[in-house]
Amino acid sequence: MDIKNKYKSYVLNTYTRMGPVFVKGKGSFLFDESGSKYLDLFPGWGVGILGHSHPKIAGVISLQAKKLIHIPNNLYNVYQAELAEKIIRASFKGKVFFANSGTEGIEAAIKLAKAFGRGKKHKIIAMKNSFHGRTLGALSATGQAKYQQGFKPLVPGFVYAKFGDFDDFLRKVDNKTAAVIIEPIQGEGGVNIAPKEYLAELRKYCSQKGILLIFDEVQTGMARTGKMFAFQRFGVEPDVFVLAKGLGAGFPISALVVSSKYADVFSPGMHASTFGGSPLACRTGCEVFEVIETEGILENVKNIEKVLKYYLSEFKSKFSFVLKARGVGAMWALELSRECADVVKKALDRKLIINCTQKKVLRIMPALNIKTKILDKGLNILGKVLSEI
Ligand SMILES: Cc1ncc(COP(=O)(O)O)c(C=O)c1O
Repeated sequence: MDIKNKYKSYVLNTYTRMGPVFVKGKGSFLFDESGSKYLDLFPGWGVGILGHSHPKIAGVISLQAKKLIHIPNNLYNVYQAELAEKIIRASFKGKVFFANSGTEGIEAAIKLAKAFGRGKKHKIIAMKNSFHGRTLGALSATGQAKYQQGFKPLVPGFVYAKFGDFDDFLRKVDNKTAAVIIEPIQGEGGVNIAPKEYLAELRKYCSQKGILLIFDEVQTGMARTGKMFAFQRFGVEPDVFVLAKGLGAGFPISALVVSSKYADVFSPGMHASTFGGSPLACRTGCEVFEVIETEGILENVKNIEKVLKYYLSEFKSKFSFVLKARGVGAMWALELSRECADVVKKALDRKLIINCTQKKVLRIMPALNIKTKILDKGLNILGKVLSEI
């Protein structure tokens, strides 16, 4: 039985899959079973910040796997402490809890908000059109009916405000509100960038009223926007933020980062994870920080931003069906007036991988170490695809 038939027989049908069977990755390229090479401008849905199988990441994983893969969290491990220090040094004074995926990081943030509210404040304001994950708490925070359908009743206490609209936030907030959760840039929602002033207004209000401001940086964190964390690009500091995707550059790990003021909300026994923060995961995270620092990743994101801005603006002026080009750093989108699934398919036929979200938004999030020449090549292919539809 070939691989696709094995999927049909044995893998639960929760994804719409396409394309060939990939067996190898190197940098911004994927290779299929026959050795054909594909240019990946959406590696791992934002996970592959250093491209596929970066030699230093692969090296450290192999080294640490031979030394110590996992020990439970009632014992100390060197790299958990080291990685927590790196995250804190790069962000703000505080402490870190480690988990394994974006949605788990968000669950931890939701539990922190509930614990902070001490049963007196239980409401959490989330944003319409947001995406926070698929476990029930994160799904309840996700302000999109299509993902929640079939899974009700959800976790109570979530109220959805219009993204970017401070007046709507004021209509939703009350003295039962414990926290606000927001992606500074909605990723799955279509690369919608929160206005800086809006985030600043939220910050001011939350500080005045004692409400936790939580940023979901699962997609925007780890240099994606040209700063280590998106909140630094906006100049607005949350109380809590969540990292995942890029933190392990492909190795599963997530982090809940809590500022000093709220670092004692959790006490032993209130939250835990068997796998979270293992020596293997955390050493990988440490190496990701190292590579970002030593390989000029933040500098390269500036170059990526220039190239993407140039090409996507060109596409907008050239093609009438391109309504908007938007993005920052290495996180960009083209909003079309038509559906874009066939664009992704046609790009794949030309050996280019991109993404379509919200039916009409093409999303491009290359590896942060992609060479601009390669990015150029990919965007020229995309230009050809767009001119053919
Ligand atoms: C902003 C954001 N939060 C949370 C998640 C959930 O992450 P995971 O799929 O690792 O659970 C995602 C995933 O796409 C995301 O983009």
